[in-house]
Amino acid sequence: MRELLRSLPALSGDVLPFDPDAAPDDPLALFGEWFAAAVDAGVPEPHAVTLATAGADGRPSARVLVLKDVGPDGFAFATDARSGKAVDLAVNPRAALTFWWQPVVRQVRVTGAAHHLGAEASAADYLARSPASRAAALAVRPGEPLGSVAQLRDAMSAARERVDDEPGLVLPQWQAWVVVPDALEFWQGSPDRAHVRLVYRRSAAGSWTRSLVWP
Ligand SMILES: Cc1cc2nc3c(=O)[nH]c(=O)nc-3n(C[C@H](O)[C@H](O)[C@H](O)COP(=O)(O)O)c2cc1C
Repeated sequence: MRELLRSLPALSGDVLPFDPDAAPDDPLALFGEWFAAAVDAGVPEPHAVTLATAGADGRPSARVLVLKDVGPDGFAFATDARSGKAVDLAVNPRAALTFWWQPVVRQVRVTGAAHHLGAEASAADYLARSPASRAAALAVRPGEPLGSVAQLRDAMSAARERVDDEPGLVLPQWQAWVVVPDALEFWQGSPDRAHVRLVYRRSAAGSWTRSLVWP
């Protein structure tokens, strides 16, 4: 493994120009610019993001999920209330999100407070999903021991029939969440390792300050 790992290239994408002095005052505007640039550059699934949480015991846990929205309120995602992340956030509503867009050598890091958006928004998110996605969410019992993959497939088939029979059915455990950012870092990698890090921090009054930090 050691040899294999050391033989692999890193930071091998095509760097995009980034002038931090010309960055907008609002980091969410810059996130929008960077996200659009990632889509234009053909970054695969740029909306897949790593969400890190920590539960009551302080142990961190991270997993990939799909971003559902970004707006003035923050970064929205959805999950099952029984999942590890939702259990963590219920006791410790702090989260970090990390995007890695390899083809353009860009990383975006977000930290902030996480809020459950409530039953109405959660139901709307659930109902906006495809029938297959709704059935998958309905079938599962997150984190519980599973006897076999066949058992999972059977549960999904049964859930799909139920979703088709009851198109208005909402999974009560479905939860929409938003991470309200208090800091964002925009990281533009460079082949010569002169990586540019621009960090935005939200003041107590709600305005943003930004500064470069050493890589
Ligand atoms: C590309 C991708 C997208 C995913 N999207 C979601 C999602 O939107 N919501 C979700 O709860 N899990 C999603 N998952 C599954 C999570 O990574 C994870 O396995 C699951 O949520 C259980 O994690 P937890 O127990 O730590 O909460 C996705 C996984 C991948 C690889």
